[in-house]
Amino acid sequence: MMRKSGIATLCSMRGAASAMLGTGAWLMSAVAWAQKSFDEMPYKIDGGFNGPMTTISGLTEWSKDINHVYLITTVIVTGIFFAVAIPLIYTLYRFRAKEGDDTPPSQVHGNVVLEFLWTVIRQDAVKVHVIGHQWWWEFQYPDYGIKTAFELHLPENTPVELTITSADVSHAFWIPRFGGKTSAINGNINRLAFTTPAAVQPEVAGGDYYQGQCAELCGSSHALMRHVGVVHTKEGFERWVKAYNMPPKVETASQREGEQNFAKCVACHVISGTPSADIPGDKIGPNLSNFGSRSHLAAGTRKNTDDNLAIWLRNPAELKPGALMPNLGLTDQEIASLSAYLRQSTYKTF
Ligand code: CUA
Repeated sequence: MMRKSGIATLCSMRGAASAMLGTGAWLMSAVAWAQKSFDEMPYKIDGGFNGPMTTISGLTEWSKDINHVYLITTVIVTGIFFAVAIPLIYTLYRFRAKEGDDTPPSQVHGNVVLEFLWTVIRQDAVKVHVIGHQWWWEFQYPDYGIKTAFELHLPENTPVELTITSADVSHAFWIPRFGGKTSAINGNINRLAFTTPAAVQPEVAGGDYYQGQCAELCGSSHALMRHVGVVHTKEGFERWVKAYNMPPKVETASQREGEQNFAKCVACHVISGTPSADIPGDKIGPNLSNFGSRSHLAAGTRKNTDDNLAIWLRNPAELKPGALMPNLGLTDQEIASLSAYLRQSTYKTF
C-alpha cells in the first residue's frame, strides 16, 4: 500500500515537473508566434493604424523589457499552478470515498492554537479609519474615540489596520516609507495593514515623523494634501491618546476671547470637551482637538506657528488654493485670540 502510494507520488512529481517545463516551452513559443504574427502584419486597419492595438508586440526597448518580465512571471506561476493542482487532483482521487465503505472520515474541528494566535494578533492591532477630503486627511480611531487630521499617530512595533476611503473625489494614501500606496475612493473601503517600526527619537520631538503625500490627482491643492505618520513609544502613544480629547486650558484673557470667537468656527470644526462637540452631524472641516500639539497646519503646508496660523485664518486660499474654508474676514485681534485659544490652551504630550 505504502509502496504503491510512494510510486504514485513520484509519478505525479515527475508529471508536475515535465508539465511545468512543457507549459513553459509552449508559452514561450506561443508568445514568440504572436509577436512574429503582429510584426509581420502588413496591413493597415481602418484609419491608417499600423497593426492592432496590442502590448504583446512591443516596439520600444522598455516595452520589450516589460513583456520579458510578463513572460518570466507567467512561466513561473504556471509552474506553481501545476505544482499545486497535480497533488490536489491526486489527493482527491487517492482519498476518495471507496465503494461500500460507509465509515465517516475523521472530523477536524479547527485549531485552537492557531485561532488563539489570530485573535491575539487582531486584538493588538491599532485600527484607524482614514478618510481623504479635498484637501486634507482625517484619521478616526474608533477604539479611542479620537478624530484628528493630518497626523496619523501610532505606537511603535505594533500591527496597524487602516480602512481607507474618501469623502469626495478619489485620493491616495501614501507614506512612502511605510509602503503600500492605497487608493481612497468614495463609497469603497480599501485596507492597508502593516507593523510600525521602532521609535527612533520619541522623547526629543514627540515621535518620529514620516512624511506622506496624497498620490492621486484630486484637484487644485492635490500637491498640498500632505500627511505624516507619527511613531511613538507605547507610553508616548498612550500620552497622546490621553491628552487628545482633554478640553482646552482656557486661562488668559486672550484665550477666553478666542473661546468666544471659536463660535464662528463650530459649523465646520469640533474641539473635544467644548460645546462644539455637542453639535450633531459630521463636520466638513478637520477636528481641532489638541490642535496646539500638531507639528504643521493647513494639511502640512506650514509649520504650526502663530504667524502661519494668522496667514491661514486671514485667507485660507493663500496657503491652499481652492480650500473649502472661506475667508471669514476676521480682524487681527480675533485672529490673535483664536491663535491663543487653539495653540496655547492645548496639551503638549512631550
Ligand atoms: Cu487628495 Cu490628491
